[in-house]
This record gives sequence, structure tokens and C-alpha cells, in this order.
Amino acid sequence: MHLSKVAVVGLGYVGLSLACALASRGFEVVGLDKDYEKVMMIKRGLTPIYEEGLDKLLRKSLDDGSLKLIYDYEEAVERSNLCFICVGTPSKPDGSVDLSYVEDASRMIGRSLRNRRGYYLVVIRSTVPPGTTINVVKRIIEEESGKSLGDYGLCFNPEFLREGEALQDIFNPDRIIIGCLDETSGEALLNFYRSFHGDSMPPVLVTTPTNAELIKYANNAFLAMKISFINMISQLCQNLPGADVKVVANGIGMDRRIGREFLNAGLGWGGSCFPKDVMGLLRFGESIGVKLPLIEATIEVNEAQIIGAIKLAEKLVGDLRGKNIAVLGLAFKPGTDDVRESRSIKLVEKLLEYGAKVRVHDPRALEKAREILREKVSYASSIEECLSGTDLCILATEWSEYKVLKQEMLEKLMKNPALLDCRRLYDPKEFERIKFAAIGLGPPNSSQ
Ligand code: UGA
Repeated sequence: MHLSKVAVVGLGYVGLSLACALASRGFEVVGLDKDYEKVMMIKRGLTPIYEEGLDKLLRKSLDDGSLKLIYDYEEAVERSNLCFICVGTPSKPDGSVDLSYVEDASRMIGRSLRNRRGYYLVVIRSTVPPGTTINVVKRIIEEESGKSLGDYGLCFNPEFLREGEALQDIFNPDRIIIGCLDETSGEALLNFYRSFHGDSMPPVLVTTPTNAELIKYANNAFLAMKISFINMISQLCQNLPGADVKVVANGIGMDRRIGREFLNAGLGWGGSCFPKDVMGLLRFGESIGVKLPLIEATIEVNEAQIIGAIKLAEKLVGDLRGKNIAVLGLAFKPGTDDVRESRSIKLVEKLLEYGAKVRVHDPRALEKAREILREKVSYASSIEECLSGTDLCILATEWSEYKVLKQEMLEKLMKNPALLDCRRLYDPKEFERIKFAAIGLGPPNSSQ
């Protein structure tokens, strides 16, 4: 079966990147979102999120007509023979997963399938707890459409896209995981990916939807655990004369079984995925009576990093009350304007709680940060302006723009030059004349 007309439901960074990538490889794509403003904005060639290379690809796909934006499910299903559901799965207040958008989308797709003839494949790409595709999506689609599996197809196919590198991750993924209930659905999706990737088809794992759903959660939880592991070691290093977590990470990362990636100690993991998914897995475990102690510890260590950074700041400049502090970087990681669950914002909020006066800077995320921090901090449009007259500079997100910091610059601009490196961007040797501290860097060892 060859399916080449695609509907993408939900145009966040996952859906929009996928829609543009497919359109650029010759697929006929319709994009759909419940947010009318967003659809109109995208239709005009504007991307609601910053994603490297996406605006160019979007304009090209709109210009050559390979991507169409519509607002109607019936029409979307009519114009396609395969749909990817990429809607959000936010957290409920208790940390469990809110499936209402997935349910809505399944209902609308199901309804639109009722009078549609011919095979149609529904692919869930939103991150959903194990069992959702079988117990929730399948039930809704069948109730609404009156069809049964075989007349239509259903797969769970997780995405592993990093924000900022979403396109690269779509074009060159490490693997494709296909969770399907019947062979026809699995084969149809596999064929679809074969035509998308051509000769550079990545490795594929075909399994049940439940396994595929768990793979996505376990994947994110493992990466978060890896970061928390090195952050735990960073706490050890901070109290160990002569120790440096960066060197320790380099050393253990040379073991091929461990690998160096995701061993960068710092303020911890944030963003729209890890915090939501790690908590979602914990709550899912509880819901079926299984305790997940490693996941609990992963969260605990992540929280401790913020207090750890506050303690380091106090070591450098004493009581933080009334101190003027410059915070560089607010995005949850470099290369994005996303501040959701940003560790830097959490740090700023903690500094304010301790009575500090905070001035912030970010190359891209200032506007989005303003929506959270409002009048509680002041905003600088340049690094120089941010540093000027302050008692402490904290590097919170490791944008390469901040590599320009030199001790002469800090001496010239700051009232009391002191630097706290929370993302290990700097070489401590280059800041020997001023007060300097870094996460995971032990006190100097005189006997070395
Ligand atoms: C993450 C995963 O990496 C993707 O594979 C996954 O598809 C995505 O979530 C998702 O579930 O949709 P992303 O949220 O874009 O992608 O961010 P990462 O690059 O993984 O970084 C997450 C957080 O960990 C950031 O706050 C980053 O600063 C932090 N981090 C990362 C560290 O503190 N240390 C590291 O060594 C690596």
C-alpha cells in the first residue's frame, strides 16, 4: 500500500516540522490545528515557534502548494489517506497526562472516517501513556466511525525530536519505532517511511503500540536520569578539593557503554518534554501500582541543582538580599526561544525569593520570559547592559554568544566582579583574578 497524501493534526514544533519536512520531499500535506490564529499565522508563512530552518521550508512548501493549511477535519481526511496526530499532551495539576486533545482529535478523525471510502491510516505521534492507543484512541475511532481495524489502520509512532534540531531529527533519525496492532497498519507506515527516506532508511523496530508508547517514556526518562546522575556527581565534586565534574564526565563518557552525551552537569533538565514525561511516567507507574524509585530520585536531584546554585552564589558574594545579580540565559536550552520549565527561570525565581535584585538577558527568549517574570526583574538588551553595576553574574543557559565573557570585561562593567558558571561554559583559569565558582568544580587543592 502506498500512502502519500498526509494530514498533520496539531501544528506545534513536532507537527509543523513534520508537515514541512514531508512537503519538502514531495508529499501532499494538509496541516490542521484547533487554534485558528495559529493556522492563519502559518498560512502567512510565519512560524509560531523558533526552529532552525523551519521558516524557509514553510515558505517554500506554501509557495509550491505542497503544504495547505485548513481548519476542517472532514476536508483534511478527504484530502489524505494517512494522518499523524501530533497534538499536545500537557500535564494535569497532579502530574498525570491530560489526554483531552488526543481524545478530541481521535473523535474528529473518527467522525470524518464514517463516510470516507478506502483505507485510511491513523498514526499517533503525541506522547501518550502505555495502553492509550489501544484503550482510548482505537475505542473512540471505532465508536465514531463505525469501522473496525482492517478497514482503517492504527499505529503509535513516537517522535524523538529535539527542539532546535527538529528538522535534522526528522530527516536523519536514529531509528523508527512502529507500534501496530495489525500487520497491514505496520506495513503501510513502514512503506510510507521507505518512500520518505529512500536509500537512507534508518533502523526500524516494529512492535505493539504499548511497547512503543513505553519506549518513548523510557527514552526520555533515561536521558533525564543520565543528566541527574552527572548532577549528583557534580554535588560530590563541589565538596571535593581538586575535583571537576567535567573531567569526570569526559572520563566515564569514554566508556562506549556509557557515552559522553547528556553528561553535561548544570542547572538540570527543563523544557516542554522531560519534566512532563518524567512526571507522567511516575504517575503512570503509580496508577498501575508500580513504584519507580530511580525516577523519583531523578526528579529530586534535578530540584536540588537550583538550591545548589544558590549556595554557590552565597559562597561567592555572601547574603543575596539586596545584591544586584545579572542572569545570562533564560531559554531552557540554547538555540530556542522556549522558556517552558526553564531551569534558568526557576533559578531567577529562587534568587528573587532570597531578596536579590535581578537583571536578565537572553539572545532570543526575552519576550517569552517577560510573560512569566513580568515586572519582578529588569531586562537588558545587551550583555554589557546586563552586567553593568552588578555584584554577581550567573551564566544560566549556555548560549555560544556568552563565550565572549572575559575577566577584563567583568572588571570593567561590574561593581564587584564575580562569576558563577552554572553550565560549565568557561575555563576557570581565565577568571583567576576575580571571584569565580562553577557547578561541579571542587575547591582548589593546594597539594596538586
Ligand atoms: C527532548 C529529547 O532529547 C528528544 O529526544 C525528545 O523527542 C523530546 O525531548 C520530546 O520528548 O519531544 P528537548 O526537550 O528538545 O528534547 O531537549 P534536550 O536537548 O533533550 O534537553 C532537555 C534539557 O536537558 C535541557 O534543559 C538541557 O539544558 C538539559 N541537558 C541536556 C542538560 O542539563 N545536560 C545535558 O547533558 C543535556
